[in-house]
Amino acid sequence: MSADGESSPVSAYAADEEHDAEVNVRPRRLAEFIAQDRVREQLQLLLAGAARRGDPPDHILLAGPPGLGKTTLANIVAAELGAALRVTSGPAIERSGDLAALLTSLGPGDVLFIDEIHRIARPAEELLYSAMEDFRVDVVVGKGPGATAIPLDVEPFTLVGATTRSGLLTSPMRDRFGFVAHLDFYTPAQLDALLVRSARILGVALTPEGAVEIAGRSRGTPRIANRLLRRVRDFAEVRADGVITREVAFAALRVYDVDERGLDRLDRAVLTALVGSFGGGPVGLTTLAVAVGEQPDTVEEVCEPYLVRAGLLARTPRGRVATPAAWTHLGRTPPPGTFGTAPDQDAPDEQPDLFDT
Ligand SMILES: Nc1ncnc2c1ncn2[C@@H]1O[C@H](COP(=O)(O)OP(=O)(O)OP(=O)(O)O)[C@@H](O)[C@H]1O
Ligand SMILES: [Mg+2]
Repeated sequence: MSADGESSPVSAYAADEEHDAEVNVRPRRLAEFIAQDRVREQLQLLLAGAARRGDPPDHILLAGPPGLGKTTLANIVAAELGAALRVTSGPAIERSGDLAALLTSLGPGDVLFIDEIHRIARPAEELLYSAMEDFRVDVVVGKGPGATAIPLDVEPFTLVGATTRSGLLTSPMRDRFGFVAHLDFYTPAQLDALLVRSARILGVALTPEGAVEIAGRSRGTPRIANRLLRRVRDFAEVRADGVITREVAFAALRVYDVDERGLDRLDRAVLTALVGSFGGGPVGLTTLAVAVGEQPDTVEEVCEPYLVRAGLLARTPRGRVATPAAWTHLGRTPPPGTFGTAPDQDAPDEQPDLFDT
């Protein structure tokens, strides 16, 4: 997402119109879910154990950055249990009464999926505690001194909560989940396998080299890999013979402004300014943002997380700094003394001006 509302092809967030495209390639069962081996194995045991006992499994918290498979896993949990899935989200639960109505309407063994659970309002959160723990909610009727709490039973159910910000969850909330799964970014090889699977479902001809080319630019994120596959498919059908070879993928991703490391136009503008105008930094966030014509918030929240994760940019107390990998990525040689390089014994005395803020 950029400040002007136009979304980048490598944004980890889903665009509104992407929903249907995602559902088409979404794995339905645990066995089809690619990678995340530990989470998959642990979930498999949890679900199988519960099935043997005939009880609903423990409540499950799925934590991790956008686009890594939380919603997909919530659907899979319900499918594996053969249970009905009810879906809501933290921000959608405005009043605790709405949540009470939802909870008391659950059937035995249902799965309730609450997305963005860290955004649930506090009164609703407290109601959820007793539902999770004792399968009971107290509904308050009336106001003031005459108000009475009516206890209502809730059928045994499994809550699946998803959050991109597990640090924002209160500890009583977190403690009520018997199982917490942290999703990690995917390796290029895992995304490669994911792309092969998606291409098969979509009926797209994708060569192994074409898959590698897309996987390497997908920022470790299944949502981005699937989106780039759809864009490259368009290019392959319109400008080529429909087959996604390495060359076709390469040419298509150039058109969409996604480079070899998955950087978009703005990411590259930030690095180019940092290296070209500020000698690699350190430079303050505001100065850097002005140089690329963006809001500081956009640079900080949209560009930097991935640049830092990719090892291209570092945040230091004195400002933003380009790493040697950033120089190399832009086709330049990092000058001696660049942040992160070993001091060079044979380097000439004069140092580049690194403190040009
Ligand atoms: N392990 C996986 N195997 C295959 N496809 C996956 C996997 N994980 C995610 N996907 C695909 O990536 C897309 C995004 O996944 P999903 O919607 O589950 O992400 P999310 O974690 O819920 O993201 P958000 O935080 O934005 O809600 C889906 O279309 C899904 O098909
Ligand atoms: Mg989701």
